[in-house]
Amino acid sequence: MKEDQRPPLHLQNHQRNKLSITKLFTHTSAYVILVLLSYTLGYVSHSYPPQQQQRLQLQLSQLTPPPPSVFQFANLPTQLDNFRVTAHCSNSPLPPNLVFPTILDRVFNGCSPYTNFPPPHLRSFLKQKRIKGWGSYGAVFEHLIKRVKPRVIIEVGTFLGASALHMVNVTRKLSLQTQILCLDDFRGWPGFRDRFKDIKMINGDVLLLQQFMQNVVYFNATGSVLPVPFSRGSGLEKFCKWGITADLIEIDAGHDFISAWGDINRAFRILRPGGIIFGHDYFTAADNRGVRRAVNLFAQMNNLRIQTDDQHWVIDTALAKQI
Ligand SMILES: C[S@@+](CC[C@H](N)C(=O)[O-])C[C@H]1O[C@@H](n2cnc3c(N)ncnc32)[C@H](O)[C@@H]1O
Ligand SMILES: *[C@@H]1O[C@H](CO)[C@@H](O)[C@H](O)[C@H]1NC(C)=O
Ligand SMILES: *[C@@H]1O[C@H](CO)[C@@H](O)[C@H](O)[C@H]1NC(C)=O
Repeated sequence: MKEDQRPPLHLQNHQRNKLSITKLFTHTSAYVILVLLSYTLGYVSHSYPPQQQQRLQLQLSQLTPPPPSVFQFANLPTQLDNFRVTAHCSNSPLPPNLVFPTILDRVFNGCSPYTNFPPPHLRSFLKQKRIKGWGSYGAVFEHLIKRVKPRVIIEVGTFLGASALHMVNVTRKLSLQTQILCLDDFRGWPGFRDRFKDIKMINGDVLLLQQFMQNVVYFNATGSVLPVPFSRGSGLEKFCKWGITADLIEIDAGHDFISAWGDINRAFRILRPGGIIFGHDYFTAADNRGVRRAVNLFAQMNNLRIQTDDQHWVIDTALAKQI
């Protein structure tokens, strides 16, 4: 073996420590920490151009004592705090009948976004209705709405409103008074118009929010569906701060681990005790099954049971975990 092919010193030490470390890894907590740490490191190294990366590695190697000892591993649980959502939440949840008025007041200056919608200058750009979703009519929606009888539903990831409007249909059928908040930046994703050329763009601003609102108007659902056109992170954080909670929360936005992890952790904080959080794409392959890894890790860390319903994952907090 040539000199430069030899494992670095700290790796040799690593092997010497192998026995005791292996023992430690059998613990779930150590596994969880490793998964999270590998994401941080992956994220850090991914986000920098090569030159900066070299500098970063140098800094890291200067900062990090090379031989990781069992002592260091034993202290890693504190590192988990970096992955927790800690934004301040209201101590007093709003009653359901104040949820829409609060959003209208805080997000829309007290004026419904549907007032005089669509404005004349947009009319020719919108279709009377244009709906397309993915797994948006699954039986899971009816199953869960029947189980929870929600007063408030929050949907994270709405697009053109297929699943939201399907939920309106279900709640109408069950004669429920349900209010649905749709949190989405309504920007789609970069390049989404390759498949949705008919969604118009004006000076770089895609009319996804407007076409969604037109769909809501078409289905006479303006009284029960309200868009919250912001990013999932900032939106969920404010809901928490304003005391907005939901009985049922659906997650259907990004399919990578980091997105799904953030959405689930933030959304869980505003789930009413005994409520249900569920989401699409449990079996989707994207990001090495990123959604499933995030859901599984979250359930494991919080001692919750996962159920599946066709393409969806479901966590029902009213059910005790069955081991
Ligand atoms: C799959 S669509 C939601 C579909 C909707 N729930 C339905 O079934 O009709 C995902 C939505 O999440 C939003 N989104 C935000 N961040 C995203 C991300 N990183 N990847 C994909 N979608 C994202 C997009 O604007 C898009 O409207
Ligand atoms: C809601 O139900 C009506 C009547 O059954 C149907 O025509 C419509 O397509 C449904 N809407 C959605 C968005 O599922
Ligand atoms: C919406 O309401 C109008 C007026 O009541 C009615 O004519 C129309 O059929 C309704 N549309 C749907 C999709 O339910």
